Amino acid sequence: MQNRISTQQIAQRKGKQPLVCLTAYSKPMAEYLDKHVDLLLVGDSLGMVLYGFTSTRDVTLDMMINHGKAVMRGSQHACVIIDLPYGTYEYSPDQALQTAKQVINETGASGVKLEGGEKMAATVKHIVDNGIPVFGHIGLLPQHVTAKDDFRVQGRDIDAQHQVINDAKAIDKAGAFAIVIEGTVEDTATQASRAISVPSIGIGASALCDGQILVSDDMLGIFSGFKPKFVKRYADLKSQIENAVSVYAKDVKQRQFPGPEHLYRRTRP
Ligand code: KIV
Repeated sequence: MQNRISTQQIAQRKGKQPLVCLTAYSKPMAEYLDKHVDLLLVGDSLGMVLYGFTSTRDVTLDMMINHGKAVMRGSQHACVIIDLPYGTYEYSPDQALQTAKQVINETGASGVKLEGGEKMAATVKHIVDNGIPVFGHIGLLPQHVTAKDDFRVQGRDIDAQHQVINDAKAIDKAGAFAIVIEGTVEDTATQASRAISVPSIGIGASALCDGQILVSDDMLGIFSGFKPKFVKRYADLKSQIENAVSVYAKDVKQRQFPGPEHLYRRTRP
């Protein structure tokens, strides 16, 4: 029997105990994280982390749905949200709604996330008005980044600051249940967070956001790509995996593995 945290419960946490959010892409990872987090995001960061793409733009809807199903199988407590991938929602509010419906129907997740501020407000409203909860995403928008150098911190000058705050307000007004603020100067992120009625979830934003999210593979030290300043490493699993595999390789070469305890012996008659 599943008793998941709902998007309404997430929305009610504005200004209360900070929300704990992480990405998950697979069933085992969802199982390990589930009881510790409020929200699991099946982020399209999986394109870079799992598939080795240079941008999130190559991620397909099928990938998101398959990983979404795996995360749903591995979790029963956290609210699971799935990213709409690039090219599946920007054309029109109706296109976005059809994609969101497909994601929810095929995975059973609680809602979808899409990137964009003021320009995407009508789309967010259309999806929410049709009964599907939306997690907004403003500030740095990875789907708009095509080169590594484009990962630029947002909201630095006054105009850029106003834009981030207006984006936050527009997505709040459109009915999102929470909003990710990514890669944004601290005081801009703090002001945007204060300007909205729903929880802000920071990633490279502000400690005063209503919650925080990280890419799990980054904070666990599995992903070997670029490590942004905002990532805190809580483990170095890459080194642990490499050490374990080198011991296995040595054991195999020296015929130390398999040992008698790993073999099936004929039982005596
Ligand atoms: O795709 C993703 O993992 C995300 C988070 C970094 C917020 O959008």
